[in-house]
Amino acid sequence: MKKKKIAVLTGAGISAESGVKTFRDANGLWEGHDVEQVATPYGFEKDPELVLNFYNKLRRQLKEVEPNPAHRLLAELEKDYEVVVITQNVDDLHERAGSHHIIHLHGELLKMRSVDDSYTLYDCKEDIKVGDMSPTGVQLRPHIVWFGEDVPMIGKAAEEVESADIVVIIGTSLQVYPAAGLMNCAKEGTPIYYVDPRPSIDSKNNITVIKDVASRGVAKAIELIKELK
Ligand code: OAD
Repeated sequence: MKKKKIAVLTGAGISAESGVKTFRDANGLWEGHDVEQVATPYGFEKDPELVLNFYNKLRRQLKEVEPNPAHRLLAELEKDYEVVVITQNVDDLHERAGSHHIIHLHGELLKMRSVDDSYTLYDCKEDIKVGDMSPTGVQLRPHIVWFGEDVPMIGKAAEEVESADIVVIIGTSLQVYPAAGLMNCAKEGTPIYYVDPRPSIDSKNNITVIKDVASRGVAKAIELIKELK
């Protein structure tokens, strides 16, 4: 029998229990940092060192964190379902938990690219510094989608959501578009489960809100999914 397809949309909240800070909660990542400064092409042009250091710090932090039960439950779900994880996160915790089909909407800390070519990506395990050049002789920058830049994976992500039988949303404030609009690509009536301790929408019609942290909430969502006909 063909496996049902689940599209999982994750945000910073799924990595919170691993010790990765979210963006907009108190003490979030933006605190002390102006978004314009560290997450726009303009900010990078103005002060590349500050921006590179911001992402260097996040990249170094990856070495100190581990996937949590929510990441692992999603990886295990592949035994019984076709699962595609569409994440706004730039960490590699879904990969390390064992998920196989992952779309990074906002880029990846462990990749870099030159400032003049958003398509040729290089592995990036260490800090990037001003003066570090691509093989083509151009300054390198993190492979992060900054505000005001295109989100190249959005079309593919929309197709995945549209063809899903079930949608699960975890740990996102649903404030950043186009990612926040992806749930609207689901076919009418598709069951949608949204796990977040401070959800930004209420349960209604086909949307079930599970007000809880990711580890417990994802376990509850999976129980409900297993009850579906
Ligand atoms: P936000 O920081 O905006 O939202 C985090 C969400 O996680 C909030 O709704 C919290 O309630 C929830 N949360 C906190 N702790 C949680 C836990 N233990 N379990 C589950 N949920 C929890 O982060 P995002 O919505 O992911 O973009 O932000 C979207 C984008 O904004 C990011 O990808 C980033 C930023 O600009 C780029 O870097 C381009």
